[in-house]
Amino acid sequence: MSEPSIHLLRSVVLGVGSALPQRVVTNADLEKQVDTSDDWIVQRTGIRQRHIAGPGETTSTLGTAAARAALANAGVEAETIDLIIVATSTPDFTFPATATQIQAALGVTQGVAFDLQAVCSGFVFAVTTADKFLRSGSHKRALVIGAETFSRLLNWEDRTTCVLFGDGAGAIVLEAQPASPEERGVIATSLRSDGRHREKLYVDGGPSTTGTVGHLKMIGKDVFRHAVGQVTGVMTDCFAAAGVDATTLDWFVPHQANRRIIEASAEKLGIPLEKVVLTVDRHGNTSAASIPLALAAAVADGRIKKGQTVMIEAVGGGFTWGAAIIRW
Ligand code: UT7
Repeated sequence: MSEPSIHLLRSVVLGVGSALPQRVVTNADLEKQVDTSDDWIVQRTGIRQRHIAGPGETTSTLGTAAARAALANAGVEAETIDLIIVATSTPDFTFPATATQIQAALGVTQGVAFDLQAVCSGFVFAVTTADKFLRSGSHKRALVIGAETFSRLLNWEDRTTCVLFGDGAGAIVLEAQPASPEERGVIATSLRSDGRHREKLYVDGGPSTTGTVGHLKMIGKDVFRHAVGQVTGVMTDCFAAAGVDATTLDWFVPHQANRRIIEASAEKLGIPLEKVVLTVDRHGNTSAASIPLALAAAVADGRIKKGQTVMIEAVGGGFTWGAAIIRW
C-alpha cells in the first residue's frame, strides 16, 4: 500500500533574510530616559542595544524588506510564493492582516496570506503551520515571516519592560520537496499553550475591550521561571521525534529574550554554549522576529551550513511555547 503524500514531502529551507530599523538605541541612551543602568541591563538580560522603528517604518515595511532579502537569498521570484504566514503581535492595523499587506507589497497575487499570533513563540508556530500546509501538498512555496514593532506597545516610562524589547523582522522561504535521503527540511515540531497565565505577560488594551492598543505588562520573574521550567519538554519531544540529541545538534537558535534564560535552557539539555546562536545583545527581544533574525545572522556569517541540524525554540505570552528541528 502506498503511503499518503504527507510522508513523502518535506518543507525545505531555500533562503533566509532579515531587516532592522535604522535607529539603534543603546543602554546608555535609555539611562537618560528611565532609572536604569547599562550594568543592570547587561547583567540581567545580556542586552546592549536594540533597533527601534522610526517614522515610516512599520511591521509590514520591515516584514516586506525581510521577505525580499529571503527571496534574494533563496534565488526565487516573489510570484512563485503561494503561502505567506506572518507571525506578529504588532500588526500595522487591527485588520487587514499584515500578511496581505506584505503580499501586495511583494506583488504576489496568487495563493493565501494570513497572520498568526502566538507572541514570542509566533515564528515557531508559523514554521509548524507552514510545514503542515506544505507537506499536505496543498501549497508549494511559503514565506514564513516574523515581524514586530514592540516599541509601539511599550510604556517608555516603565523601566521593567521598556529596556527589554526591540523592533525587526526575519523571514525564511520554505519549499515542499520530495523527501531526500539527506532528510533536509523541517523534521520535527512540537507546540504547546496554556491560557491560564494571561496576566503574567499581556497587553492591557485591544479592540474588543478598551478600543485602544494598550501597553505591555509583564511579571518578569514568573515568565522567566516558566521559560526555563517548561520549555525543555517541547525540545525533548523534538529530539525524540527527529532521532537527534544535544550531541548531534549543530546549532541551537532560541528566542532571544534574555541571555540568562537561553543559557539555563541550553545547560538543562546539555547543549554546549558554542552551539548557541545569540543575538539578544544586539537586537534585544524582538518577539516573533527574534529567531529568523538570529537564523539570518548565523547563515550570513557562515555558521549555519546546508545539511546541518538546527533547533529553534521559543516561549511567549499566553503562555505559548514550541520547538522545531530543521535540517538546513
Ligand atoms: O519573550 C518572552 C517574554 N519575556 C521574557 O522572557 C522575560 C523573562 N524575564 C526576564 O527576563 C527577567 O525576569 C527580567 C530581565 C525582566 C528581570 O530580571 P530579574 O532578575 O527577574 O529582576 P527583578 O524583576 O526581580 O528585579 C530586580 C530588581 C528590582 O528591584 P528591587 O525590588 O529588588 O529593589 C527591580 O525594581 O531590579 C529592579 N529593576 C531594574 N533596575 C534597573 C527592574 N527593571 C530595572 C531596570 N533597571 N530596567
